[in-house]
Amino acid sequence: MTSRPPSVASEFFRATRAAKFIQSKTKLRPSVALVLGSGLGAFADELSSATRIPYHKIPGFPRSTVAGHSGQLVIGKAAGVPLVAMQGRVHLYEGYSAKEVVFPMRVLGRLGIRAAILTNAAGAINLDYSQGALVAIRDHINLQGTNPLIGPNDERFGVRFPDMSHAYAKAYREIALREAKRLGIQIHEGVYAALCGPSFETPAEIRYLKTIGADLVGMSTAFEVIVARHMGIRVLGISCVTNMAAGILDQPLTHAEVMETGDRVKGQFMALLRAVIPPIAADVQALPS
Ligand code: HPA
Repeated sequence: MTSRPPSVASEFFRATRAAKFIQSKTKLRPSVALVLGSGLGAFADELSSATRIPYHKIPGFPRSTVAGHSGQLVIGKAAGVPLVAMQGRVHLYEGYSAKEVVFPMRVLGRLGIRAAILTNAAGAINLDYSQGALVAIRDHINLQGTNPLIGPNDERFGVRFPDMSHAYAKAYREIALREAKRLGIQIHEGVYAALCGPSFETPAEIRYLKTIGADLVGMSTAFEVIVARHMGIRVLGISCVTNMAAGILDQPLTHAEVMETGDRVKGQFMALLRAVIPPIAADVQALPS
């Protein structure tokens, strides 16, 4: 037996303990997870046979401090598919470490999740997008200055150097594009740049992000995707363009605007989520165990 540094053993142990706690509250054993970003939490209110667990009851879970992030885990069914939905997430800008931000994703991994649908609110850099548009994330640029995998690697989660070439599953993106088209919902594909926040970007930062190939900017998701891929979880990322990024329109950015747009398009967003869940669940069922 090789010995592990205690901090490594404890992340796995703590995630397993939280997963067991969650499993003790419900009979459902979902393989698909949903992370609902700012203003998008309403989807979880619709799940049937739902068990709701506030984050503060789950051992080791961080608590969300942002308006629009209600902070509970909902295990229930959508379109007959068992799901676990995170109604709200935590961010680096709240003062949590990268490891704390991804702890819920570790717990989802220990729950046996094989596919994760991550949603967020984002500012549009790409001028083809408009406020309220939905964007299937093709790739990300992590500009948060750190990585949640820094530190000793626990092989029980995954390899030391995970491949990020196909971080966002092409097959899932195609499902999202196809279903959006079928529903008459406008959708784009784009690259998401993750910044720390909490200040919105300056117009000069947005011009810089444009030159490096970003279509969208936000303050979440990238860490969760890194950790999901570390554990072999397949990912679909969908952004809701809540505002044009700084300097694109001559108007200040506010969190209220982010929330208002999220609210305005949540019907479409929820329709798209409802439509992508069954084919993603079918994909997961076909994976070798
Ligand atoms: N910048 C960063 N994060 C965001 C934005 C933005 O313009 N809109 C929503 N989240």
